[in-house]
Amino acid sequence: MRIALDGPAAAGKSTVAKQLAERLGFVYIDTGAMYRTLTYKAINKGVNLENEQELTRLLLNTIIELEAGDLGQRVFLDGKEVTQEIRSIEVTNMVSKVAKHAGVRKEMVKRQQQLVENGGIVMDGRDIGTHVIPDAEVKVFMVASAEERARRRHEEHKKQGIESNLQQLQREIEERDHLDSTRAVSPLIKAEDAIEMDTTLMNIQSVVNEIILLVEKRGGKS
Ligand code: CDP
Ligand code: CDP
Repeated sequence: MRIALDGPAAAGKSTVAKQLAERLGFVYIDTGAMYRTLTYKAINKGVNLENEQELTRLLLNTIIELEAGDLGQRVFLDGKEVTQEIRSIEVTNMVSKVAKHAGVRKEMVKRQQQLVENGGIVMDGRDIGTHVIPDAEVKVFMVASAEERARRRHEEHKKQGIESNLQQLQREIEERDHLDSTRAVSPLIKAEDAIEMDTTLMNIQSVVNEIILLVEKRGGKS
């Protein structure tokens, strides 16, 4: 059983994916963390983010490891933990520039497909249902209004003690969604056979429960 979750920023993908993985005993794979890790390394090395060849070469020489930890997924770049670093505002606002390049996506998709070979996974991202696992047993495209998504991120920042401005957050989210949905290579788009779930008015638990029902319908355990 493979569950593919796609959708725009702050739709609730990773929160829902983590809970699904726990309930089902599946492995959770956050593909956004992989693009973030490459972006973090590229910024640190001063690579021009418009230079596809250089970014692709950098990725080919980069080891990205995802590991399940007690507090969620841990991320390692060339053996060093970068779980916190890849969530910085700088990385968040640059990652779509890196993710638009065909060479980068080709290598990322190859690595992601290797991670799903054994099944029993929940994978979230932007192109999981369309490109990474086009034959996934369950595909969900999660959406929510931009206002609600900005509000959720704002709340999250408050809890973490990070100062942020609600209007600015919404602008940044919309800008990233625009870049992700309009790029030439595997843009953010609902797969034809994905179920669209508008979570604007839904709490996390009801989203998780609905997806579990879909899994059960497809004969998966819960
Ligand atoms: O958690 P959040 O929704 O803020 O973003 P993320 O899932 O960490 O993804 C960060 C960025 O990586 C996205 O805005 C996309 O530009 C890119 N991404 C992608 O292109 N394809 C994926 N499968 C996953 C992420
Ligand atoms: O992974 P993605 O960027 O799609 O979103 P997320 O990081 O899972 O969710 C963003 C924030 O919205 C988190 O703080 C969640 O707890 C919250 N959330 C919510 O309040 N209601 C939902 N139905 C889903 C997420």
